[in-house]
Amino acid sequence: MKPPYRVPSACKKQTSAALSALVLSSLAGCRGVQSTLWPQGPAAQAISDIGWVMFAGAAVILLLVMALALYAIFRIPEKRLPVSANALIAVGGVGLPVVTLTALLIYGVIAMGYLRAGADDPDVQIEVIGNQWWWDVHYRGGGQTVATANEIHIPAGVPVKISVRTRDVIHSFWVPNLAGKIDLIPGRINHIVLQADRPGMFRGQCAEFCGAQHARMAFVVIAEPADVYAAWLARQRQPAATPANAAIARGRDAFSASGCMVCHTVRGVGVAQQAGPDLTHVASRKYLAAGTLENNRANLIEVIARSQTVKPGNRMPSYPDLDKKSLDAIASYLESLQ
Ligand code: CUA
Repeated sequence: MKPPYRVPSACKKQTSAALSALVLSSLAGCRGVQSTLWPQGPAAQAISDIGWVMFAGAAVILLLVMALALYAIFRIPEKRLPVSANALIAVGGVGLPVVTLTALLIYGVIAMGYLRAGADDPDVQIEVIGNQWWWDVHYRGGGQTVATANEIHIPAGVPVKISVRTRDVIHSFWVPNLAGKIDLIPGRINHIVLQADRPGMFRGQCAEFCGAQHARMAFVVIAEPADVYAAWLARQRQPAATPANAAIARGRDAFSASGCMVCHTVRGVGVAQQAGPDLTHVASRKYLAAGTLENNRANLIEVIARSQTVKPGNRMPSYPDLDKKSLDAIASYLESLQ
């Protein structure tokens, strides 16, 4: 039977161009900073390989089943191959799954060995503590302990062991381009190894529902050449910058008077706190509020004045009563904390 209409050739061309564009753009999407399809380290590579092998296996089996179904539907009954039902069940229902699943299991167990590749550098001891809804990051070993938030710097090309724990509920630490997931479970310390083959910035995301702002619990991992990493860590080890002028000093006083230091630490000024992110070098970070906003002056003011609009339910109250002058002064102070 002829199709009831003809597709004009111009239309065909357009359709195929649109399809190619779609395929190309979806492939380009794989090269994202938060994608398991663009592995940038050995663990992520192993996971990606397992994924593709499983996908290929599943595709072959799907095609086989579809071919058999079409054969059963369209082949004239008298002309079908005489296969007994029992033989079909023995081969297709028992033999085939046992062989393929066993092969995939053995391959998967061997490949998983890559996920546990050890890393014990006493100078790079990174601890990540999950909080609703931000990541507290501590660098221990080799000098002054440094705390940062929602931003993890690692040296590129070497395995880095990260220990993870939580202060409240279960979270899950996931940097798709670099490794698998690891859960942060109350009362436990877990470990994961991150390794980036080359310098770059990758996005991580909490992968376990942990409350209203679970989706806004992101972070970045910045892999750097060893010397750049060492310079970054040395800078972070410095105490907070002292105000360079009177305006910034007024900002520090307003910061203190408004009660910010009840929750936030500015190392060298006041007592250490852990209810909110350490702000000693907040101006050096890319994002605010766990990947929610870019770190710039307007957004700093936004987070201080309307924290509950930016991230409803988080532990920091909005400060609608802070006058513009104080907000500006506090923003200037925070911007000076490089
Ligand atoms: Cu933390 Cu979801």
